[in-house]
Order: sequence, then C-alpha cells, then structure tokens
Amino acid sequence: MGRVALVTGGSRGIGAAISKRLKQDGYEVAATYAGNDEAAAKFTEETGIKTYKWNVADYDESKAGIEKVEADLGPVEVVVANAGVTKDAPFHKMTPEQWSQVIDTNLTGVFNTVHPVWPGMRERGFGRVIVISSINGQKGQFAQVNYAATKAGDLGIIKSLAQEGAAKGITANAVCPGYIATEMVMAVPDKVREAIISQIPAGRLGEPEEIARCVAFLASDESSFVNGSTISANGGQFFV
Ligand code: CAA
Repeated sequence: MGRVALVTGGSRGIGAAISKRLKQDGYEVAATYAGNDEAAAKFTEETGIKTYKWNVADYDESKAGIEKVEADLGPVEVVVANAGVTKDAPFHKMTPEQWSQVIDTNLTGVFNTVHPVWPGMRERGFGRVIVISSINGQKGQFAQVNYAATKAGDLGIIKSLAQEGAAKGITANAVCPGYIATEMVMAVPDKVREAIISQIPAGRLGEPEEIARCVAFLASDESSFVNGSTISANGGQFFV
C-alpha cells in the first residue's frame, strides 16, 4: 500500500490533476470537495479516487472528515492544501463578506487541514505538507486584496511549519501557480484574461498537470532536503 495523500478541493481544477497524479504515483488518495456532489461522483467514477465532502473553513468538520479518511485509508502522510475560492472586487467595492469568505476558506482552511494531521506526522517522524499558493500572493493583483492576502499568508505558514517540522522529518513547501486553464481563470472576463495571457512570456495559460508535477516532486522522497520553499510555475510571468 502506498502512502496516504489528502488533497483538499481535489476533485476539480488543479486539485483534480494533483489527485490523479498522486494516484498514478502509487499513493492512496483522498480528495475533498465542498459542494458539487455531481462533479465529485463523476470524478470518483472516472478515477477510482475516493471523495469526501466537508467545508475546509470549518475546523470541526475538517477534523471529523480527516478522522474518517484515516479510518478508511490509514494515517495521512502527505497533505495538499489546495482548496480555494475567489471573490474578486476592486478594494473600494469589496465587502466584509467577500473578505471573510476568502480568508476563511483559503487561509483558515489551510490551518484546518494541516493542524489535525500534524501531531500524527510528528509522532511517525515523516510528513509532507504542500500548500497551493498563487502568483498573486507573490505579486498582488488588482481586485484581489482578499485572495492575495491569503496566498501571501500561505507562504508565511509553510516557512514557519518548515522550521517546526524539520527535526521531525516533516517538510512544508508551497507551489505558486501562475494563470492555469481552470474554471477559476476562465471565470475572469475574456478581455481581462487576454490581457493576462499577453503578460505571460510562455504565451499561454498553464495546464493543471504542470502544477501536479511540482506537487508530485514535493510529496516524494526526492525532495527530502527541500523545506520552506516555493516552486513558482507561471510560464515566466513573475520572478521572486
Ligand atoms: N489593472 C488595472 N486596472 C484594472 C484591472 C487591472 N488588472 N482590471 C480592471 N481594471 C480597471 C478597469 O479597466 C476599470 O477601469 P475604468 O473604471 O476606468 O473603466 C475598473 O478597473 C473596473 O472597474 P469596475 O467598476 O468595472 O469593476 P467591477 O466591479 O466590475 O469588477 C473585476 C471587475 C472584478 C475587477 C473584473 O475585471 C475581474 O474579475 N478582473 C480579474 C481579476 C483577476 O485577475 N483575478 C484573478 C482570477 S484567477 C486566480 O485568482 C487564480 C490565480 O491564483 C492566478
């Protein structure tokens, strides 16, 4: 049996590509989703990957969900905190609700996902924490004060966890995708998306599988001395 990997938001978009890649690499994968039962059922049917429904913004739901995953598959050794939402608006129009929804899901959701699996990783002396941040956490983005704050926050989380986990065999790293061809990016107005693509030296959007490959490396034994790092996969759009 392979290691157990938990991927939040793992049945659609970048998360689905990560779930599939980890399964292909031999992991026992659990993919979570928030609400789209139909997409999750279709995903399980097509891939054989188990899906679990919970709201990552809720600590108790996350903890109970992870207990169920561990009862079904075994201890979670690789956790990929991928679930995220956008509620874009220029700052002068952004509502407190738009701020809170994004903070609760994208940032508190990372805490809620990693915190319940952390003690087990410490006890077993092995763990891989991978957080899916964003180019927009690195450079900021018009109409994304909320989202950019969470994605920059992810980088603070992994740098701190790296220092806490290193002596216990746990690594914590982030992937910062650029603009990837998913529903999230397709929801941006056509004109804005075209302008974005014109700023990507590669001349195209990324593919979800190109992010999944970065995650596969960070999850593997090959990455054992990589800790607190960020892999930027953005087609040359932004360098840090
Ligand atoms: N930079 C500078 N100005 C911009 C801009 C930008 N990127 N985007 C829009 N504007 C300007 C417009 O030209 C317009 O200016 P005028 O008023 O002078 O015409 C103004 O800002 C927009 O004002 P509106 O009142 O029309 O804005 P709105 O309330 O309708 O909001 C929007 C529109 C939400 C900003 C919409 O344009 C949008 O969704 N933009 C995309 C934001 C974006 O890039 N999000 C990333 C999503 S993908 C993702 O998040 C994944 C990832 O990790 C990479």
